[in-house]
Amino acid sequence: MSIQGRTIVIVGGSSGIGLHVARQAQAAGAGRLILAGRDAQRLRQAHDELAAAGGAQVDTARVDAHDEASLQAFFDALPAFDHLVSMVGDAMGGGFLSADYATIRHVIESKFFANVRIARHAAGKINPGGSLVFTSGTGGRAQDACASYVGNAGINALVEALGVELAPKARANSVCPTWTVTPFWREVPAAQVEATRQHFNQAIPLGRTATMDEVASAYVFLMANDFVNGQHLGVDGGVMLKG
Ligand SMILES: NC(=O)c1ccc[n+]([C@@H]2O[C@H](COP(=O)([O-])OP(=O)(O)OC[C@H]3O[C@@H](n4cnc5c(N)ncnc54)[C@H](OP(=O)(O)O)[C@@H]3O)[C@@H](O)[C@H]2O)c1
Repeated sequence: MSIQGRTIVIVGGSSGIGLHVARQAQAAGAGRLILAGRDAQRLRQAHDELAAAGGAQVDTARVDAHDEASLQAFFDALPAFDHLVSMVGDAMGGGFLSADYATIRHVIESKFFANVRIARHAAGKINPGGSLVFTSGTGGRAQDACASYVGNAGINALVEALGVELAPKARANSVCPTWTVTPFWREVPAAQVEATRQHFNQAIPLGRTATMDEVASAYVFLMANDFVNGQHLGVDGGVMLKG
């Protein structure tokens, strides 16, 4: 039950929770980290930070998970790996009647179909004993974030299916964070981010939002524990427990 010496691909390892997963995986003795994302500068910064810390071999690759041709080229060039983490999934606000139809489609495409495509490519490259860990989410309601809600339910169904389809060779799970301060909100005004944080401080029984390290450690656990399969692990302070 260890990721010691393992090759770990993190699609979305250049920022936020994914970068924290990379840091924790390196500290836990991962042998090789392959960080992927769209933005070259973010990838370079993440690479340089992890390479300076020393330990794992660190490589980067550019990929747009919303583009099948880009995904195909990315997976064609990947070596066999032990674990893959996907941080892919856009979010939205608004209900089924109020939100823009194109946005609803895009977010379901981003959260669900992009990760189905990642799973299909990854299935051919994963080593026996490996795992896939996707990023779902919790804390939202269908009437406030309709496509995010559908997408998260889709990811949770995806890992239940993959938990059978990939077995016994490999496992699949998802981590479900609730609203967390990360660079995901980089384009939202700081005052609005703070107002949302205050809202979630009230909604979460523990009275605060998570740190990125608290969320990231769930991915490392799901990679390392060889008998957790097909699960969606909430790291949300119990946000859905209150009315
Ligand atoms: N933060 C929250 O409140 C929260 C709550 C629940 C769920 N989530 C989920 O957590 C994930 C975001 O993680 P984060 O909060 O740590 O945000 P983040 O700091 O923005 O990190 C997202 C990472 O994913 C990469 N990425 C995004 N879209 C991509 C694409 N199409 N192709 C390839 N790489 C892509 C980004 O790199 P590039 O942009 O350079 O491609 C970046 O490395 C999403 O799946 C989101 O739905 C977040």
